[in-house]
Amino acid sequence: MHTLLAYASKYGATRENTTLLAEMLDGEVDIVDLKETKEIDFSKYKKVVIFSAVYAGDVPKYVKKFAKKYQQQLLERHFGICFCCMTEIYNQIKGYALNSFSKDLVNHAACIASIGGFFQYDKMTAIEKKLLKIATKNQAYKKGQLIQLDGKTNFSTIEEYKMQVFANKMNGIIVAEEVAK
Ligand SMILES: Cc1cc2nc3c(=O)[nH]c(=O)nc-3n(C[C@H](O)[C@H](O)[C@H](O)COP(=O)(O)O)c2cc1C
Repeated sequence: MHTLLAYASKYGATRENTTLLAEMLDGEVDIVDLKETKEIDFSKYKKVVIFSAVYAGDVPKYVKKFAKKYQQQLLERHFGICFCCMTEIYNQIKGYALNSFSKDLVNHAACIASIGGFFQYDKMTAIEKKLLKIATKNQAYKKGQLIQLDGKTNFSTIEEYKMQVFANKMNGIIVAEEVAK
């Protein structure tokens, strides 16, 4: 059973966690960087996971393009949306999915979750830091607790257990062909 793990990352946190997420998912997993990939042959995939970072409530444009172009293939397969982003609030996570993908695709997703996010100030431009400060007041939640950030020190809320919960949900999907074996 093959799974496609299609990711999008600007600052590297999502990319750095693709291998671990792939290891947690059952069966063979192919990892592709959506920024580099133009065409995908879906014929061998039974499950597809979009694993994307979120910026200003949205995934990068090329992720939206991918989901639009291959909407039919995604609707015909078991599908999950995993974000690498800061918010811990499920309604916001679901909102990001609805900002990014069609309603049909969001409704089709077996699981929509976030593994947490990583503010890497050392990789941001001065303008990005400023925008982030305006948008977040340099505040973030970790395990439900509001943390005041200094806007300079890198800060992560990424946790392995969040990844495992998502993987467990995707692994729990019973693929018809596997049952028949
Ligand atoms: C400019 C900017 C905007 C962001 N906007 C959001 C947001 O709207 N919601 C959120 O939950 N996280 C937001 N984040 C946090 C990112 O999703 C998080 O840093 C993520 O780990 C980035 O992944 P990457 O390192 O793979 O690019 C933002 C980060 C940056 C730098």
